[in-house]
Amino acid sequence: MRVMYFNPTGQLGGAETSLLAILSSLRHAQPSWPLHLVLAGDGPLSAAADALGVSTTVLPFPPALAKLGEHGARANHGGYVRLVAQLGRASFSVPAYVGHLRRAIRSFRPDVIHTNGLKMHLLAGWATSSLPLVWHLHDYLCPRPLTATLLRWTASRCAAVVANSKSVADDARAAIGEGVKVVPVYNAVDLNRFSPSGDRADLDKLAGLPTAPAETVRVGLLGTFARWKGHETFLRAFAQLPRELPIRAYVIGDALYQTDGSQYSGEELRQLAASLGLADRVGFTGFVRQSDAALRALDIVVHASTLPEPFGLVIAEGMACGRAVIVSRAGGAAELVSHDVDALTHTPGDAGELAIRIAALATDASLRARLGGAARATAERAFDHTRLAREIVPLYQAATSSRPSSVSASLRAES
Ligand code: GLC
Repeated sequence: MRVMYFNPTGQLGGAETSLLAILSSLRHAQPSWPLHLVLAGDGPLSAAADALGVSTTVLPFPPALAKLGEHGARANHGGYVRLVAQLGRASFSVPAYVGHLRRAIRSFRPDVIHTNGLKMHLLAGWATSSLPLVWHLHDYLCPRPLTATLLRWTASRCAAVVANSKSVADDARAAIGEGVKVVPVYNAVDLNRFSPSGDRADLDKLAGLPTAPAETVRVGLLGTFARWKGHETFLRAFAQLPRELPIRAYVIGDALYQTDGSQYSGEELRQLAASLGLADRVGFTGFVRQSDAALRALDIVVHASTLPEPFGLVIAEGMACGRAVIVSRAGGAAELVSHDVDALTHTPGDAGELAIRIAALATDASLRARLGGAARATAERAFDHTRLAREIVPLYQAATSSRPSSVSASLRAES
């Protein structure tokens, strides 16, 4: 089977890391299948896919299309007015871009197209009327009413929707209706790479801080700078901890995406840390490509999203590395852990409660060890990436076998 993937960026955020895990799992399970990835921007994803033996084509989004994003619009005052104006500008470039996608499809001749981002679900739906599409949802649709409406109108083109958690699957059914098959497939990680043993990043050096004393407990939040990822809650929680605790905080990551208004800048977060009196106790490392080494360098991994987290890949990665993880208890993230068994949880956005959880772990090495050990066991059971091919291949097979023969004929005619 020939499978083509469409991804809206070449950067490596959670959705892209999840896609790489699928590609790697498929490569091993179905080595003879030609796989091709179309990216709408340059970045490290292309080389990472290449390394797995997946060919890539970069078809950059026109700037107006790259900036378009409903999430940022909701968060900002007057955001929808701006979004509609942006949509108007972007719509001029859509027909030409759809034409590029069509040519890419004709040249690779896939049996199925797997799209990995909201814009790509729509664009693929407009680029082909005969090939089966699998939409992979990494985000909630109900909070994006405009996108949800467009997807509902295009949903007849979609053979199956993959959702990264049960919570995202329920939301998808509510947003696009019961007409489409929605299948939850949890993300997974490479358990050899994300493991308790291996290199540890020198976070102090990366952040330009003097090396912390040996007994220092390191607590960090790793992720992109999307505003809802809870950097502010994390910094405010840290500011509530007694100064004499031997603990240092790290913000690991960067603003990765091009969509407007949806992210903090590094400068904003540094200013916030300084205004809370934390400048000498918080390290900003920037984006760390070897995220496993960064996670292993932490004693406590904090997930602090203020909105329901669709899945929360960093939670699975931190658990696989045997770390003590604190999880913001909402959305798909809440499905992944059991409080006080393999992680601690806190109420989203509640800096006071998060501070209590961090203090509990920072002052109790045996609690960190107990949770970290149980976390690794959960990861081995639930997040092994070899499972992905077993779950995804049947979806591709069902999608292609349910294609009526008239479709194959029209496909030949299209090409
Ligand atoms: C998106 C979601 C995140 C998830 C990732 C991979 O980035 O926001 O929760 O872990 O996709 O599915």
